[in-house]
Amino acid sequence: MGFGYLCVLLVCILLSEGLSKGVFGLACNWGSRSTHQLPPDIVVRLLKANGFNKVKLFEAEAGPLKALGNSGMQVMVGIPNDLLAPLASSVQVAENWVAQNVSSYISKNGVDIRYVAVGNEPFLRTYKDTFIHTTFPALQNVQAALIKAGLGRQVKVTIPINADVYDTGSGLPSGGNFRSDIHDLMISIVKFLSNNGAPITINIYPFLSLQADPHFPKDYAFFNGNSKPIVDGSITYTNVLDANFDTLVSALEKNGFSNMPIIVGEVGWPTDGDPNANIVNARRFNQGLLERIISGKGTPRRPTPPDIYLFALLDEDAKSTDPGNFERHWGIFNFDGSIKYPLNLGSGRGLTPAKGVKYLARQWCIMSPQASTADPKLAESISYACTYADCTSLGYGSSCGMLDPRGNASYAFNMYYQTMDQRKGSCEFNNLSIVTTVDPSPSPNTQGSCRFEIMIDLGKHEKRSSAPSMAASRFGRYNSNIVVVGFLVPLLLSMWVV
Ligand SMILES: *[C@@H]1O[C@H](CO)[C@@H](O)[C@H](O)[C@H]1NC(C)=O
Ligand SMILES: *[C@@H]1O[C@H](CO)[C@@H](O)[C@H](O)[C@H]1NC(C)=O
Ligand SMILES: *[C@@H]1O[C@H](CO)[C@@H](O)[C@H](O)[C@H]1NC(C)=O
Repeated sequence: MGFGYLCVLLVCILLSEGLSKGVFGLACNWGSRSTHQLPPDIVVRLLKANGFNKVKLFEAEAGPLKALGNSGMQVMVGIPNDLLAPLASSVQVAENWVAQNVSSYISKNGVDIRYVAVGNEPFLRTYKDTFIHTTFPALQNVQAALIKAGLGRQVKVTIPINADVYDTGSGLPSGGNFRSDIHDLMISIVKFLSNNGAPITINIYPFLSLQADPHFPKDYAFFNGNSKPIVDGSITYTNVLDANFDTLVSALEKNGFSNMPIIVGEVGWPTDGDPNANIVNARRFNQGLLERIISGKGTPRRPTPPDIYLFALLDEDAKSTDPGNFERHWGIFNFDGSIKYPLNLGSGRGLTPAKGVKYLARQWCIMSPQASTADPKLAESISYACTYADCTSLGYGSSCGMLDPRGNASYAFNMYYQTMDQRKGSCEFNNLSIVTTVDPSPSPNTQGSCRFEIMIDLGKHEKRSSAPSMAASRFGRYNSNIVVVGFLVPLLLSMWVV
């Protein structure tokens, strides 16, 4: 009996040991390109309540970093691409960056920073050669600065790269190698990372392959598809994530880096803004992905499972829509931490929504019943609203794409009104709009998931009175965490057309 008790205790110790080492924990990306950011302390509680113990930030922002202090969460801090040139120019700049953005958070705030991500997908073909000459020197300077700060062992550098840095001549994962135009640079970087015991980070987007090519075999994007598998020697691939990951493994093996650790920095599926971006697909993909993570399975060429950072925790309504309208809808949760769709996190445990969120008053701005859809000022008013607020749910195949012209105008007016914190004067569209306390959201039974939002209360509605004041700050922000579409296509095409 005593022995049995001891065994139970031991298991508990092993389990908590495992948890504290992050063996069973989940990882995700926490971006902050939102007009109404969920307060950082609420986000950290949300992460913990849902079993996340690793989080990746796109830049060293004080609010999130302070909230992560003494939280038990392991943190990857990103450096935006526009800091690469200054960081490459001098070790002193890198030392200042590390002192201000890493050392102080570790020592003063108790933040468990494990990685610094230098740049974000700097070698994307769309960026042309913009960051080709600065990324590696910036990486070297940040590494030197970390060593000088005495953090060389504790904090590792990495570069999150897009999957288009490698390709395959044979169309199979085993043919993988680094893109010829940056082959030598990639080898230098990988060698440097390897010498410093640091991992390479790769972002993989099955959604983009499907979104960019209507002939892409849809099932192959998911984990439980029935597509004709791709046979690569003795290996059979049934999904694009494995095939893509193993193309990198082959590229590394071919160049003498068989043991190079790999992190998947971003992977996910959006819920809106494109016909393929919907709740059914996102749930199917993310549930399959979670089952993979929980099962501890790796890929055919790498049986050890990598750390996989889900993209993303929350929706971000101020991200650039250059890649597509779906870009603002990658969240597993809505922008406010409410649940979008059910997910099983293992052993039947479901998602837990954010707690303690404060909302603005339950009121909406809609098109006035007296106004006519033939009013010549209507188009201009909608266009104004959508310039300053997020109307990406109104597009073709999106969640509110089926609204009639009146509903459409109401949606746009309301997004503007909420984005402007329901301030005085923000529901005045040439006398075409009124405020209502009756929820104008269409019935979920007949119209799917179109939601007329109410924003989070950030305490701004009383302080400020002129409505469009926030427009400037919103558009002045650069978008470091955009995903650019279309560059994965050649690689992915060559991988499913055998
Ligand atoms: C710290 O990081 C922030 C965000 O990346 C940046 O704006 C700031 O300049 C950094 N501090 C230094 C001293 O470089
Ligand atoms: C709704 O508004 C959006 C954004 O202005 C526009 O692109 C779309 O064509 C409109 N649809 C209808 C049915 O009016
Ligand atoms: C709105 O209606 C009021 C009252 O009918 C009128 O005085 C005002 O000029 C109108 N404003 C606009 C922008 O049409």
